[in-house]
Amino acid sequence: MTDHEKEIEDFGKNDDFWIFGYGSLIWKPPPHYDQRVPGYIEGYVRRFWQQSEDHRGTPEAPGRVVTLIDRAHWDTLTDHHEPTERVWGAAYHIPREKVTTVRQLMDIREINGYSIQFTPFQPIPSSTPSSASPTPPIRCLVYIGLPENPQFLGPQDPGELARHILQSRGPSGENREYLFNLQDALVGLGAESGDAHVADLVRRCREIEGEGEK
Ligand code: BEZ
Repeated sequence: MTDHEKEIEDFGKNDDFWIFGYGSLIWKPPPHYDQRVPGYIEGYVRRFWQQSEDHRGTPEAPGRVVTLIDRAHWDTLTDHHEPTERVWGAAYHIPREKVTTVRQLMDIREINGYSIQFTPFQPIPSSTPSSASPTPPIRCLVYIGLPENPQFLGPQDPGELARHILQSRGPSGENREYLFNLQDALVGLGAESGDAHVADLVRRCREIEGEGEK
């Protein structure tokens, strides 16, 4: 067993199984969670650079979903959008007695190219005066489509990406619905939780949709 496999196996043994969602998990929580906390992680860039053959596309016509790119790797690439310093999302705590079930369900649900990583998550500081002190980071499991996975695409032209999203669909529904849900979910997280890459793709898709109605 590798150190990483051991890390995965041991994670959550002290009733501290937290999973961070930066994509569909923000609006579609994992089963059996008992806490949901909005916040962010740092050191990554969220991009629609991962092909989806199982949810928002098919093996013959893959859709596009988000993955996280390590910021140091992103710095070596040529991209069309500026990165946001923070990747906003939601962390979920899974109670100890449900961890095995959730692991099995999640691995089936999320596998298409994604692998398990761990990252510190910063909960949004509460706005209530009684708990205004900084909240310590929480170590979270996160699914990332790493650059070496077969579904990873790398930098995309935003116009082509928007058109591709508009024409894709899979067993979980229309690809555009995933994009629009993500945008709405991000706005719902807090005042600073936007993502310029996501917002620009939404703007482009709405524009193309509008042209179609003329
Ligand atoms: C997420 O929402 O964080 C997510 C969901 C499925 C695969 C990868 C990430």
